[in-house]
Amino acid sequence: MDFRLQPHQQDTVTRAQGLAESLRAQALVRDDEATFPLDSLKDLADAGLMGVNVRPEYGGLGAGVVAYSLAVSTIAAADPAVAVTMAVNNMVNEVIQQFGTDDQRQHLIPAITSGEFSCGSFCLSEPGSGSDAAGMRTRATRTDDGWSITGAKAWITSGAYAGIFLVWASTGPPEDRAISLFAVPADTPGITVGNAEEKMGQHASNTVALSFDDVKIPADSIVGEPGMGFPIAMMALDGGRIGIASQSLGIADAARSIAEDLGLTDGLHELDAALEAARSITWRAAWLKEQGDRPFSREASVAKLMASEVAGQWAAELYRRLPASSDSAFEDHRRFAAKLLRDVRVTRIYEGTSEIQRIVIARDLIRRASP
Ligand code: CAA
Repeated sequence: MDFRLQPHQQDTVTRAQGLAESLRAQALVRDDEATFPLDSLKDLADAGLMGVNVRPEYGGLGAGVVAYSLAVSTIAAADPAVAVTMAVNNMVNEVIQQFGTDDQRQHLIPAITSGEFSCGSFCLSEPGSGSDAAGMRTRATRTDDGWSITGAKAWITSGAYAGIFLVWASTGPPEDRAISLFAVPADTPGITVGNAEEKMGQHASNTVALSFDDVKIPADSIVGEPGMGFPIAMMALDGGRIGIASQSLGIADAARSIAEDLGLTDGLHELDAALEAARSITWRAAWLKEQGDRPFSREASVAKLMASEVAGQWAAELYRRLPASSDSAFEDHRRFAAKLLRDVRVTRIYEGTSEIQRIVIARDLIRRASP
């Protein structure tokens, strides 16, 4: 196995590094003011980073999943809130690329990769169904010429700024788990965007509730086959978990870098080893996904579980070790360390909690052990 970066991977990292310094410089202000980073997102789009694993014909870089992972980590080390917005945009684009019609691909993906739509949103979770994704109550019923969606979604990343929502809705009796996926323009009548959640961290990312009241959409809004929405969501989340693992690595790298700058790494060898192990499994999951024909669900869950946990430990350990100082140069480190500590917590929650990753891993173990 060759761990050297290929030219297209190095090029992607260079693009991300080119934006990271200015993102980091503004990260604390953005966080204090909870400013959604519209300009920065356009810069990311211009650099191709909203579609790293998206084909160039749709405005993506076509650079693959390993390059994507490296880019998310690089942006996350500068500002985790920008990284999650980038990650969800990439995930939405990849769902449309993999499961959408030619028409959906040609119209929707370039709008997100180019920055015409600042964001796309992944609307799966509901107030009563976060971990139990199949327990959703949002329903889509057929009309004469399409579908009507009614229901509520919760904790939707970028929901107030998205141009397009990918919305999962039940299209059959609950016991059949008939769930379908729809691409819904954000300005469709009947959609209400709730107030932004007041979160402990990642203030510059936008998280809202959405309600759908008889939202009428044409028949060609369905993404994939009717009733295939649940497996599509699960496959998308497998990839999404590589994104959050990569974001977590970036947070851990940022914490480690501050600890190194301040000479605070004594005795952190176990944590250092755990970070490198998490990085290896994240890259392996990314590589497996990139092959296109290999299962990677288990590796993505292991990566997210390990990377998010170790990033939390790095952020906590850094904060615990910070000495008292009135030096103004130190103040930036202290405030950024505090931001990392607040930002990192949700990496163990979104795109499937650590408990859900353990379930995915355990089920895979059982399946392998079954004759
Ligand atoms: N790939 C393809 N198909 C899959 C799959 C996968 N990884 N996992 C499951 N499936 C299929 C199964 O094969 C099964 O198909 P059949 O019915 O044909 O047999 C079907 O899906 C149902 O599978 P399960 O019985 O395993 O489903 P379950 O109800 O027991 O739930 C779960 C599984 C893993 C707990 C799932 O509900 C889950 O992942 N929950 C977490 C949800 C989540 O991660 N939400 C994140 C929200 S998005 C977000 O956070 C974005 C953001 O803002 C940052």
